[in-house]
Amino acid sequence: MARRMAVGNWKMNGLVQDLGEIDLLKSEHSAPGCGVLICPPATLIARMADHVAGSAIMVGGQDCHAAEAGAHTGDISALMLRDAGASHVILGHSERRADHGEDDATVQAKARAAQAVGLTAIVCVGETEAQRDAGETLDVISRQLDGSLTDDPALLIVAYEPVWAIGTGRTPTLEEIAQLHDAMRAHLGDRFGDKAADIPLLYGGSVKPGNAGEIFAVSNVDGALVGGASLKAADFGQIIAALDAA
Ligand code: PGA
Repeated sequence: MARRMAVGNWKMNGLVQDLGEIDLLKSEHSAPGCGVLICPPATLIARMADHVAGSAIMVGGQDCHAAEAGAHTGDISALMLRDAGASHVILGHSERRADHGEDDATVQAKARAAQAVGLTAIVCVGETEAQRDAGETLDVISRQLDGSLTDDPALLIVAYEPVWAIGTGRTPTLEEIAQLHDAMRAHLGDRFGDKAADIPLLYGGSVKPGNAGEIFAVSNVDGALVGGASLKAADFGQIIAALDAA
């Protein structure tokens, strides 16, 4: 698995007509030096997988259910994601934690289900603004890592996404990002030993073409989880180029 990753999270955006953005990305970044993954809404996964076939671009889901199958109306299993062409799934995004009441145990169960079918789990952690103001950031992240991760570090990516930085145009300082990413690497080292060095640590929250380069130069930042700026190939392509150059 590539250690350096540019991941696009389309959230609840994207119609069939937007697949043209993927064709553009594919033609302009046919041989990226980093892993490139787009996580579209579930409705587009299979079609997008067809569009990226033969290229280095990968496709992922934004959530999955913890159960293998069954009576869960509206939900999607990890196996269904894989069947549709996904290789990864985002889990525990703060919008899922907030909108759907997902706690660490839920995220961990989903990560276990995803890894059981060979999907790489992109587990998101991040503090709210109130937690940050109260000086609790490091404790919150440690607790979320302890509660959300499984025992499998091979099919794992961790994304640090301060909740207050998502979609706001605000980001932590580079020093703050370094402090958090160094702390996460150390935390993973305590848990997984030498294998922790291979786990991609992504920063997410208002990553744009204009700030990607400086963020990618930060210690223990292996790439980004990008929301708004992943929707247009022109923007996301610049972020991929910045990661390639880092
Ligand atoms: P943003 O979202 O880049 O639009 O801030 C990031 C995310 O939520 O993954």
